[in-house]
Amino acid sequence: MPVPIIAANWKMTTTIKEAKALAGSIRSRLEKLKGIQILVFPPFPAIESVLSILSKSRIAIGAQNMYFSDRGPYTGEVSPEMVVELCKYVILGHSERRLLLNESDQEVALKIQAASKYKIKPILCIGETFQQKESDQAKQVIERQLYAGTEYLENPTDLMVAYEPIWAIGTGVAATPEEAQLNMEYIRACLEKRYGAESGRKIPLLYGGSVTKENVSRFIYQKDIDGTLIGQASVNPDSFVNIVTQAAKLV
Ligand code: 13P
Repeated sequence: MPVPIIAANWKMTTTIKEAKALAGSIRSRLEKLKGIQILVFPPFPAIESVLSILSKSRIAIGAQNMYFSDRGPYTGEVSPEMVVELCKYVILGHSERRLLLNESDQEVALKIQAASKYKIKPILCIGETFQQKESDQAKQVIERQLYAGTEYLENPTDLMVAYEPIWAIGTGVAATPEEAQLNMEYIRACLEKRYGAESGRKIPLLYGGSVTKENVSRFIYQKDIDGTLIGQASVNPDSFVNIVTQAAKLV
């Protein structure tokens, strides 16, 4: 089994002070753990402080978003050129941005293209709403988001895709591992169609949505699930450390 990836999306839930405390706690408790790849995504203002706390550790850092233009009069935005000065990963197209901030498939596609230009590794997030799932449209929605988001991405070497059903995010109701596997097997098939079997097979797929220490192993155990993207449970050091420890046992 390849080394599982555990990614922590801290969203807009930590001040700089809290992010530093969280990073320090994670580092001291997970530093020696092998057989796992850990990525943390602090809010922008905390990235630099977290970087210094995690420097020379095995825990990598990323940004939760970025704009697609190189630079210019875009008040409040952060460019890929700025992100790459700090870190090598970025979450793009998270459903909270799509739904609450009206981020479109086209914007996500431009951001993925920009990430590739600056050699930043993107995690492209896709996933259906409860209504779409209930009306049997999940596959259609994730296929559209996947192909639209990768429209300008020629080479998928650095791409990761997170399947995050919207109804499972922050609700405490995770998808069943079997249900997630079915949709992620479909994502894999779409990626193989888009990039060829060999390249498509190598793209890491993460599941996100109410992941806990109790269910993490059952997700990672699935054939097309290479890791998880965690929200709520990643900002509590005890629960995050427990999740990572569980996942590392599978290798
Ligand atoms: P929760 O783990 O809180 O459900 O959030 C998942 C998520 O949105 C990660 O990006």
